[in-house]
Amino acid sequence: MIYYFSGTGNSKWVAETIAEKTGDELLKITDALKEGKQIHIDKNSRIGIVFPVYAWNLPIPVAEFIKLLDIDGGAYIYAVCTCGDNVGLTVNILKKRIRLCGGYSVKMPDNYIPAFDVDDAQTALEKVRDASKKLDIICGDINSEKARFDYDKGRFAALKSYAASYLFNKYALSSKPFYTEPSCDGCKLCERSCPTENITVVDGMPFWGDKCVQCLACIHRCPQKAIQYGKFTKKRGRYFFDFTEEEINCKKGR
Ligand SMILES: Cc1cc2nc3c(=O)[nH]c(=O)nc-3n(C[C@H](O)[C@H](O)[C@H](O)COP(=O)(O)O)c2cc1C
Repeated sequence: MIYYFSGTGNSKWVAETIAEKTGDELLKITDALKEGKQIHIDKNSRIGIVFPVYAWNLPIPVAEFIKLLDIDGGAYIYAVCTCGDNVGLTVNILKKRIRLCGGYSVKMPDNYIPAFDVDDAQTALEKVRDASKKLDIICGDINSEKARFDYDKGRFAALKSYAASYLFNKYALSSKPFYTEPSCDGCKLCERSCPTENITVVDGMPFWGDKCVQCLACIHRCPQKAIQYGKFTKKRGRYFFDFTEEEINCKKGR
């Protein structure tokens, strides 16, 4: 079983790729959370957890999800974190909470537009092609249930995963900076894309509740680019995973 969380589709694609190459089933972490039941993992199971890193740490839904797990010794548990650049100590933090056998980072196109612009199209495609190659190796490990860790901590990992992550969770999760421009046509795609069901469209206008985890699916998916967050997103690009298999594989020599 592969449990995944994703805002703009990177981690969904990674989870789907692993599912295809391992034959394991996929489940959304948000669906498991909605059910809210403890999940017993028996000693013969293989469980993957795939998610984006947020401020070099676990997104809130992932931190909540792992509290539901009741894992027998002997189960093969691995995590794959997607990131725009590096994951800091995310895997180490997860390892302190559950017994991990494998932990990986996979660099994918960046989506954190409140702070940075999106990658240009060529950089984004190169990242996905490199990710596809790394996933071949990761899936080899998973299929042979190998114990291996291969993740990019980056520099100042402890500072980022503790201090910056603390500040992010304290100050950057607010829904208040969201607003829509007049070009919003009330299509409700934001409402449908929000993994935490935090958006309600009333009289053609989206309203954000207090369960925002900053996945930014709403901003990136808006076909009108009508959703903004604070001062800086207006001039920045938008991104969600929509590469075709042909685009990804053409440099892999397949
Ligand atoms: C709130 C937020 C925080 C992020 N923090 C980091 C980070 O600490 N390091 C990093 O390399 N990328 C960071 N990113 C980029 C995402 O981890 C990356 O683009 C990821 O692949 C997005 O996955 P998704 O498309 O499945 O949502 C952040 C993105 C968001 C939305």
